[in-house]
Amino acid sequence: MKRLPIGILGSGRGSNCRAILERIRSGDLAAEARVVISDILDAPILDIAREFSIANAYLPPGQFRTRLEPDAENELVNMLREAGVELVVLAGFMRVLHAPMLKAFPRRIINIHPSLLPKFPGLEAWKQALAAGEEISGCSVHYVDQKIDHGEIIAQREVAILPEDTPASLHARIQIAERELYPAVIAEFCERYQAAGL
Ligand code: GRF
Repeated sequence: MKRLPIGILGSGRGSNCRAILERIRSGDLAAEARVVISDILDAPILDIAREFSIANAYLPPGQFRTRLEPDAENELVNMLREAGVELVVLAGFMRVLHAPMLKAFPRRIINIHPSLLPKFPGLEAWKQALAAGEEISGCSVHYVDQKIDHGEIIAQREVAILPEDTPASLHARIQIAERELYPAVIAEFCERYQAAGL
């Protein structure tokens, strides 16, 4: 079976990364995680990669806070290409990507965000949804472009907001939905890859 080579990028906890790696390990997902890369040296997501014996690397991001320095972004392209990655999966990667990555992987970079985009891009989207008095929120998987949490939406999952919800309780339920939605979307890419290439 032809497995889709993926690279996972993240800055933090890595719960989505873990869900994806577990699905691959159990044989549910016809993907192969070639590398996990983080812009944070001691990010838990790198520990998760090591736990699953996946190649992993720290990418020094340079002097900017919300993006990679151009040299670092070019280095990221090289790392992913050398690993043979066909689909780049952002899982809590806290930097906006620019031309080097977007040109190298057109429509091959996806992200997950904890809201029903285009509503509530940016940080703590679940808090934004609560503050706005929404009754339904959820999560979205989308292609990545040069704007934050923007780009064509691939799939969404709704999560009801309950009257007694706190930011923490809502966030927890959205994350459960994320851990189902992201592997399901990647599975669709795998099917396409097996049928005809991405
Ligand atoms: C997720 O909630 C995702 O929607 C957002 O960043 C968070 C990453 O969480 N983009 P984790 O590192 O996968 O636990």
